[in-house]
Amino acid sequence: MEFGIFGWWLLLAALFQLSSIHGCLREERVALFQLNTSLNSSYGYCMNNLNIERNCCDWACVVCDNTTGRVIELHLTNGRISYIDEVWYLNASLFLPFQELKYLDLSNNKISGWVPNEGFERLSGLSKLEVLDLSYNYINESFLSSLGQILSLKKLYLSYTLLDRPMNIPISELRRLKNLQELYLDGSIDKSFFGKVGVMTSLNVLTISRCRLNVSLPIFQGQFPTWLLENNTRLAVLNLENNSLTGTLQLPNHYIPNLLVLDISFNNIQGPIPNNFGLVFPNLEVLNISKNHFEGVIPSSYGNLISLEFLDMSNNNFSGTITENLTMGCSSLFYLKLSKNHLSGQLFLASWNLTQLVSLYLDNNHFSGEIPHSISNSSLRLIDFSNNNLSGMLPRWMENITMLEEIVLTKNQFEGPIPDELCNLELLLFLDLSHNNLNGSIPSCFNGYFIKHVHLNKNRLTGPITSAFKGCSNLVTLNLKDNYLTGNIPNWIGNLSSLSILLLKANYL
Ligand SMILES: *[C@@H]1O[C@H](CO)[C@@H](O)[C@H](O)[C@H]1NC(C)=O
Ligand SMILES: *[C@@H]1O[C@H](CO)[C@@H](O)[C@H](O)[C@H]1NC(C)=O
Ligand SMILES: *[C@@H]1O[C@H](CO)[C@@H](O)[C@H](O)[C@H]1NC(C)=O
Ligand SMILES: *[C@@H]1O[C@H](CO)[C@@H](O)[C@H](O)[C@H]1NC(C)=O
Ligand SMILES: *[C@@H]1O[C@H](CO)[C@@H](O)[C@H](O)[C@H]1NC(C)=O
Ligand SMILES: *[C@@H]1O[C@H](CO)[C@@H](O)[C@H](O)[C@H]1NC(C)=O
Ligand SMILES: *[C@@H]1O[C@H](CO)[C@@H](O)[C@H](O)[C@H]1NC(C)=O
Ligand SMILES: *[C@@H]1O[C@H](CO)[C@@H](O)[C@H](O)[C@H]1NC(C)=O
Ligand SMILES: *[C@@H]1O[C@H](CO)[C@@H](O)[C@H](O)[C@H]1NC(C)=O
Ligand SMILES: *[C@@H]1O[C@H](CO)[C@@H](O)[C@H](O)[C@H]1NC(C)=O
Ligand SMILES: *[C@@H]1O[C@H](CO)[C@@H](O)[C@H](O)[C@H]1NC(C)=O
Ligand SMILES: *[C@@H]1O[C@H](CO)[C@@H](O)[C@H](O)[C@H]1NC(C)=O
Repeated sequence: MEFGIFGWWLLLAALFQLSSIHGCLREERVALFQLNTSLNSSYGYCMNNLNIERNCCDWACVVCDNTTGRVIELHLTNGRISYIDEVWYLNASLFLPFQELKYLDLSNNKISGWVPNEGFERLSGLSKLEVLDLSYNYINESFLSSLGQILSLKKLYLSYTLLDRPMNIPISELRRLKNLQELYLDGSIDKSFFGKVGVMTSLNVLTISRCRLNVSLPIFQGQFPTWLLENNTRLAVLNLENNSLTGTLQLPNHYIPNLLVLDISFNNIQGPIPNNFGLVFPNLEVLNISKNHFEGVIPSSYGNLISLEFLDMSNNNFSGTITENLTMGCSSLFYLKLSKNHLSGQLFLASWNLTQLVSLYLDNNHFSGEIPHSISNSSLRLIDFSNNNLSGMLPRWMENITMLEEIVLTKNQFEGPIPDELCNLELLLFLDLSHNNLNGSIPSCFNGYFIKHVHLNKNRLTGPITSAFKGCSNLVTLNLKDNYLTGNIPNWIGNLSSLSILLLKANYL
């Protein structure tokens, strides 16, 4: 076959095409070698065997565009060996060959500065860069002095600077980032930030947890968080967890429809939740106010939170009952945790619309009465009602909450027998009915393949163990102590291969 010069040229072009589709561009590969040297990463990470494997798009830390083969993501987190104390002075030019780069993760690399004249002003040559993660580095204010030049940035992670002081972030640079939607400053800043930050209209997510702000909310009254929410109108996620915030919660006097996630957990905020809470944040999906000193009742305006999926109010001093407004209105609830408060009364009234509910923690309160039938109209996988004053018999209809995996009813006053119907819960993993007044014999039907932990201790169970857990090959814990069981310890217990905790003492065995 005669190829001719043109044919050879075509073939070569085709081969070249193939190789560039297969791997990243040569200049990108070369740049990765340089990066490898600069990272000093001897434990391999993603650069190991760089020579051997031609196609750098297959390396763990590299993501290429499927059609162009260009590098679009570099995941260089923790790229340097941890035992090197040496800090890293970054040369931004090393990244310039990656012209299509959208995502650059440099977190946890002991970065301490730029090499001279090779800072953000160079990095700004990457006009498609949208996500930059510089968390867990020794980054100080002078490192960030030309940050504002990367105008394409949408997400910026500056959490957990490893300096032993908060960072005085250059606000003017931050404010030049007109496309910035998400800003993560956890553990990195001090309270002066709020005085200076001003309105950043593009901001959607702001997380400032673990910053030891140690300020009183009223000091910021009219400014913060009210001001942050009112004027940064696109803000959808605000996380202020674990900041030693004190004072009471003050709300703006109009709607904040954009806020979807509010986490002010683990602070020292006191006083009641303002009555209009549910009206101010009508679209809230996640609310975490746990671990504070809140008191008073659950506001009736919670009935307005029809999009709420996660609600954690545990570890506070709330009192009163669970209102119908919550059980009827919050119909999207998926996770409800009211543990460790002073709530009382019936668990739930008849009207109940929490059909999506999966996890329900009501432990360590003063609830009384029986387990209400309303909860059977749900998707529950977990119920924890421990340490309350609940009484009555264990309901047979619990068999119909078929997805249940964990039932924790310890430390109440339940009485009567353990219903055989519980054995129909085929997904059950954890059953704790200890410290109640249950009597009768142990049902002999727990042949569930899944069940792992059973606590029936400190009740008034009688009769022999017979074949109660005979087929439970996954059983790890079986605690039957402090009952009135009689007869012999059955032989099959020795065949339960997973069993590691067996407590039978204080019985008549
Ligand atoms: C890291 O790289 C620098 C220069 O590239 C070199 O001087 C140093 O010895 C390296 N450190 C280790 C632990 O490899
Ligand atoms: C990457 O750098 C490390 C040392 O920092 C070295 O051991 C390894 O061989 C380098 N990989 C390549 C392919 O050069
Ligand atoms: C690229 O291809 C991989 C697997 O071949 C696939 O998982 C990924 O979703 C694709 N990415 C895009 C942006 O199409
Ligand atoms: C930074 O990297 C570029 C590209 O590799 C190189 O040309 C330049 O000399 C480096 N600058 C410094 C100060 O090392
Ligand atoms: C910031 O870090 C650089 C490099 O480590 C250092 O030279 C500079 O003095 C630091 N600036 C401040 C304000 O701490
Ligand atoms: C709370 O924040 C402090 C720093 O302010 C940190 O040391 C501590 O580990 C955090 N605790 C939790 C449970 O997050
Ligand atoms: C918080 O601030 C108060 C005074 O404003 C001070 O007495 C207290 O020690 C501070 N607490 C912490 C943990 O810094
Ligand atoms: C916030 O908005 C209000 C009006 O909605 C305005 O009066 C106030 O000056 C704004 N605050 C800031 C810091 O821009
Ligand atoms: C709420 O916050 C606490 C403390 O910060 C945390 O432990 C808990 O996991 C959070 N709850 C949810 C549902 O995320
Ligand atoms: C709370 O529920 C009661 C009775 O169901 C109802 O009359 C009231 O309007 C509700 N309140 C709010 C704020 O939704
Ligand atoms: C019950 O929840 C559904 C959505 O799951 C909602 O459409 C309905 O209005 C709720 N009923 C009441 C009385 O709130
Ligand atoms: C569970 O549901 C089935 C079907 O709806 C019903 O026949 C049965 O009586 C229920 N069990 C209990 C104990 O109510």
